[in-house]
Amino acid sequence: MDILVITGSAGLVGTEAVRMLAPRFDLVVGIDNGMRRTLFGPDGDVSGNAAEMAVIPNYRHHTADIRDAESVDAVLRTYGSDIKLIIHTAGQPSHDWATERTLDDFAINAVGTMNLLEAARRHCFDATFVYTSTNKVYGDIPNSLPLVELDTRWEFHPDHPYHRHGIDESMGLDGTDRTFFGVSKLSADLAAQEYGRHLGMKVGVFRCSCITGPRHAGVQLHGFLSHLVRTAVAGGGYTIFGHGGKQVRDNIDARDLVRMFWHFHLDPRPGAVYHAGGGRERSCSVLEAVAKCEELVGREIPVSYAPEARFADVKCWITDTRRFRRHYPGWQPEHGLDDTLESMHAHWSSVDALRERKVLAHG
Ligand SMILES: NC(=O)c1ccc[n+]([C@@H]2O[C@H](COP(=O)([O-])OP(=O)(O)OC[C@H]3O[C@@H](n4cnc5c(N)ncnc54)[C@H](O)[C@@H]3O)[C@@H](O)[C@H]2O)c1
Repeated sequence: MDILVITGSAGLVGTEAVRMLAPRFDLVVGIDNGMRRTLFGPDGDVSGNAAEMAVIPNYRHHTADIRDAESVDAVLRTYGSDIKLIIHTAGQPSHDWATERTLDDFAINAVGTMNLLEAARRHCFDATFVYTSTNKVYGDIPNSLPLVELDTRWEFHPDHPYHRHGIDESMGLDGTDRTFFGVSKLSADLAAQEYGRHLGMKVGVFRCSCITGPRHAGVQLHGFLSHLVRTAVAGGGYTIFGHGGKQVRDNIDARDLVRMFWHFHLDPRPGAVYHAGGGRERSCSVLEAVAKCEELVGREIPVSYAPEARFADVKCWITDTRRFRRHYPGWQPEHGLDDTLESMHAHWSSVDALRERKVLAHG
């Protein structure tokens, strides 16, 4: 029997992983305790995603908390060596939340990941283990690169090699402001590498830039594109924090990220670290994203500016995915930024999203 385990199975990436990979496995085991609502309130609620998963015939849900080593061990013990792939996406994703709740953040992101790695080591050593890390492990190092300020965005200086291809995996990790979130994710990232490099488990670490898609329950504290589309559809306003709104991110559709995981699983390299992102073609500044959303909804979005940038906020990040593409030449992103934005717009405009629209417009 072939079993896929997905943690964070009601979240953005987890839900897409369940939907896309369920036909390839006999059983998909989801682990999610609905913590996103606890973290972000009703706007962060992912119970709609959880309900979608529940009707998939070969899906089985466990409401376990990854902070609880015994619960995690019990789930993996139940399925043992039938587990062929673990995609670990459960996490606390917000910098601001992490600053307020340092211990809880570390317990979820770092200790929770160790709990899973250790249980996998014990019960399904040969399974592929995918860890969703983040480019935030580098903190604000990219702000020390030579940058130029254009009308709507910050950019790498045209003479710098990152201008053409984006930032690769050789970027250093020290001497930076990082946020407590960056620290907890980096701790998990290093631990995951160790299980691969030292113990030989088939662990892959994916340092992702902004991931997005229609199933993203974006909130002000996390998920800027989703939050922007949601508020635009609801007729609300958007607050830009610092850098004149010219800060640039590249965006990867969660469905393209799941396809990366699948390619890795077919030919895993223990302990490998990859950058995962949409690259220059799918990059935009916050100002450019607002303009795109205004086109989508057909009206101006009221924007307010908070002058101070968020701590360690990077002015420009564009991902270089060439290492992954060299190792897995069959992978190419399929979703363009406009196409992803349109699917998010369609989702939030749908009747199913009516309740959320009311919450956002009036709450
Ligand atoms: N979304 C992004 O832009 C982005 C960028 C870089 C990295 N990442 C990383 O990718 C991963 C997936 O991101 P996402 O956007 O799908 O996140 P998400 O918040 O949409 O999903 C995470 C899920 O984990 C669950 N969860 C949280 N704490 C839990 C716990 N203690 N026990 C069990 N379940 C728990 C939540 O309920 C949620 O459904 C995260 O680890 C995140 O740090 C995300």
